[in-house]
Amino acid sequence: MEKEEFLRLLKEKSTRAEQIVLSYLPEKEGPQAKVYEAMGYSLAGGGKRLRPVLMRESFSLFSDREEWIHPFMAAIEMIHTYSLIHDDLPEMDNDDLRRGRATNHIVYGQAMALLAGDGLLNLAFETVADALQKRADDPAYVSRGIKAFGILSQKAGCEGMLGGQVADMLAEAKQEPCGEEELLFIHAHKTSALLQAPLMIGTLMGGATPEQVLSMERIGYRLGLAFQIRDDILDVTGSEEMLGKPIGSDEKNAKSTYVSLYGLQKAGEKVKQLSDLAREELSKLSKDTAFLEQLFSYLTERDY
Ligand code: IPE
Ligand code: IPE
Ligand code: MG
Ligand code: MG
Ligand code: MG
Repeated sequence: MEKEEFLRLLKEKSTRAEQIVLSYLPEKEGPQAKVYEAMGYSLAGGGKRLRPVLMRESFSLFSDREEWIHPFMAAIEMIHTYSLIHDDLPEMDNDDLRRGRATNHIVYGQAMALLAGDGLLNLAFETVADALQKRADDPAYVSRGIKAFGILSQKAGCEGMLGGQVADMLAEAKQEPCGEEELLFIHAHKTSALLQAPLMIGTLMGGATPEQVLSMERIGYRLGLAFQIRDDILDVTGSEEMLGKPIGSDEKNAKSTYVSLYGLQKAGEKVKQLSDLAREELSKLSKDTAFLEQLFSYLTERDY
């Protein structure tokens, strides 16, 4: 597909994903109204919507029962957004700009930002549980859905993103460069986990075989590493205007990244190598993966 056509399609798909995600955010009155407002502020505030798009695309390789995947799309974007709210807190990366706007704690204060993150994490699981209850009489939905629930919680938690953020913070506190293995652990958890989840859940809910789901786990692992190294490159070479978040955040925090350890050129080569491997395995699924393959290339070459 021509680049222009691809970009138009991607825009369309992310706008659609955003609509789906936001439709699961309740409007409430009463004492909790403030936390819903803070949750909505970060959830609605731009973002590439990459994870729900990846989930919908991998689902549609296997199934056209579109509505099946919607609650999971909302859940993954809620969890990702919560991770960003907490990642920006002064105790973590201490950043004041996200998705082109002031970060949650700048607008709502640190206590409410913590609670808004917690609220999004809970809402993600409430959303999935609710979907399972609504389709309780559909055995295929329930059995796939329970497995998907397991993947979602595992990839978000201590064995996934959260575990990576812990390792990231511990590495930063040591105030010395980390080794390659340690950095790999951090990236594989803080970033790959939340890219594996949508690819795995999308294919699983669509009816893929366990082997195909495992293949998506390997693909997401590599895509995630490439995505994070590209993020670290952009933290040096990107522009705040394009990224909608501050540049130089890693240097400010003296964070070890692929760039700080090996330099920009090596980091660029690594991104290319990892994204080629991810695309190669994707093409072996023998499905119409052309759009996803192009999306992988785009993500690892992106400027924002
Ligand atoms: C940012 O993720 C955090 C990383 C894992 C690098 P994205 O770059 O997907 O952020 P949004 O969702 O587009 O804001
Ligand atoms: C964060 O990595 C990954 C998360 C789990 C949020 P970064 O700290 O590099 O993400 P940005 O650059 O703030 O988006
Ligand atoms: Mg961080
Ligand atoms: Mg950060
Ligand atoms: Mg970063």
